[in-house]
Amino acid sequence: MAEKSQTGVLDTSSIWAVEKRFRSLVVLLLLATLLTVVYLSRESAKEVVINTGTTAASNSEVTTPRNSTKTEECDLFSGMWVFDNISYPLYQEKECKYMSDQLACIKYGRKDLKYQHYRWQPHGCDLPRFNASMLLDQLRNKRLVYVGDSLNRGQWVSMVCLVESAISPARKSFSYHHNNSLIVFQVSDYNASIEFYWAPLLVESNSDDPFNHRLPDRIVRIQAIEKHARHWSDADVLVFNSYLWWRRPEMKLLWGSFEAGDGLYKDVLMPRAYEMALQTWSDWMEIHVNRTKTRVVFVTMSPTHEKAEEWDGVPGRNCYGETEPVTKEGYRGSDWDPAIMQAVEVAMERLRKKGLLVEVLNITQLSEYRKEAHPTVYRRQWEPLTTSQLANPISFADCTHWCLPGVPDIWNQLLYASIFYE
Ligand SMILES: *[C@@H]1O[C@H](CO)[C@@H](O)[C@H](O)[C@H]1NC(C)=O
Ligand SMILES: *[C@@H]1O[C@H](CO)[C@@H](O)[C@H](O)[C@H]1NC(C)=O
Ligand SMILES: *[C@@H]1O[C@H](CO)[C@@H](O)[C@H](O)[C@H]1NC(C)=O
Ligand SMILES: *[C@@H]1O[C@H](CO)[C@@H](O)[C@H](O)[C@H]1NC(C)=O
Ligand SMILES: *[C@@H]1O[C@H](CO)[C@@H](O)[C@H](O)[C@H]1NC(C)=O
Ligand SMILES: *[C@@H]1O[C@H](CO)[C@@H](O)[C@H](O)[C@H]1NC(C)=O
Ligand SMILES: *[C@@H]1O[C@H](CO)[C@@H](O)[C@H](O)[C@H]1NC(C)=O
Repeated sequence: MAEKSQTGVLDTSSIWAVEKRFRSLVVLLLLATLLTVVYLSRESAKEVVINTGTTAASNSEVTTPRNSTKTEECDLFSGMWVFDNISYPLYQEKECKYMSDQLACIKYGRKDLKYQHYRWQPHGCDLPRFNASMLLDQLRNKRLVYVGDSLNRGQWVSMVCLVESAISPARKSFSYHHNNSLIVFQVSDYNASIEFYWAPLLVESNSDDPFNHRLPDRIVRIQAIEKHARHWSDADVLVFNSYLWWRRPEMKLLWGSFEAGDGLYKDVLMPRAYEMALQTWSDWMEIHVNRTKTRVVFVTMSPTHEKAEEWDGVPGRNCYGETEPVTKEGYRGSDWDPAIMQAVEVAMERLRKKGLLVEVLNITQLSEYRKEAHPTVYRRQWEPLTTSQLANPISFADCTHWCLPGVPDIWNQLLYASIFYE
């Protein structure tokens, strides 16, 4: 509330001052728009984006500098969701051969499908259209590797679904490596691969088996990452996340190895443990990543929707039964963790100062709005939900992951915009 009224009370004299200062920028922008329009009309009529007419300068596609999506002209991560059943979804759930049962909401009975039809509309510009063949062109002879937890895996599945329809069946393949930690989607015509590596805490832990990791006592080898990192440090694009598995008051950390038996164990409070993990990760990246070859992206925390009272829903309920996004600008639920957010900012800034540029894919705010886009009970995880679980969605709804097609497609569109769009 306070935040909103603050931004609402801008006095007009300062707006005029800003306007004067940016007059030359406006001329430049007009020129750029003109050039883009000429280019677009030559290229194809299909490129024209649907415009809501709510924003002034949104007729042309945004040209994003490779270094950052946060420019004076447009912050791609600040905007709103617009219902758009013409352009979305970008693919059909049942047509994606590699869809995960954990995210296949229609397959498991979801009937309200509005969640598939939202477009992300940044304030002040449009997101470039996703074009699978353009992406694959950029990935020719390259590896794009997602590293992280199940949310990152969902984003990887989304990316595979976004491109796979453009590839004929004989030209794509799927394989598991390194004890199933690495899953590779390979596109032979392009010699390109889109991969996912399971490392939910980034550093090593006793939860590193991609299937068998539901352990009562989580232990993190806070200074060890080599076992994971050697499988992806030479990738061309690296997309990291890690947050969900750190959501507990403290973590049990281990100095030493699991096998040796003489290791030192210590319980460390959050967010300190998380900061230490990011430090280990940064140290590795700084030394091992080839700055001219590899683009590094870090995805911020994906919000959950466990408590309906946070968005003025029925107290005691969760995301189950929700059919509309939150419309209140700047809405944040209680699991928005400023300390985690800051730890990420600090770690990325530190790397930037050392000459390794990390693109932050700041998906937290835009995903906060999407309380209706989780699988709830319409999914299969380890084993199908029992009848009594299905009858009790308040306890068994998944309000953490995201149905596909859905929100992670937009994360990938943002990735596409910030990494590949020139
Ligand atoms: C991007 O970063 C490189 C190296 O840090 C710099 O030389 C270049 O000017 C930057 N480009 C933009 C558009 O900021
Ligand atoms: C899109 O949504 C509108 C409004 O709900 C509806 O009238 C229209 O039939 C829908 N179009 C498609 C293609 O689903
Ligand atoms: C994607 O880009 C290619 C050029 O790389 C173009 O031929 C094609 O029409 C584009 N597809 C869409 C759907 O815009
Ligand atoms: C195929 O891509 C890999 C990187 O993913 C590269 O090392 C290899 O040289 C490429 N092969 C050819 C024939 O270009
Ligand atoms: C693969 O997993 C098995 C069973 O968990 C384990 O015994 C083996 O050491 C693992 N191999 C590697 C290379 O990590
Ligand atoms: C880093 O990558 C560039 C571009 O692929 C390559 O030319 C260079 O040899 C690499 N440097 C090292 C130290 O591997
Ligand atoms: C992400 O964006 C939010 C605003 O939506 C901001 O508060 C936060 O600091 C940003 N996080 C990072 C890591 O840049």
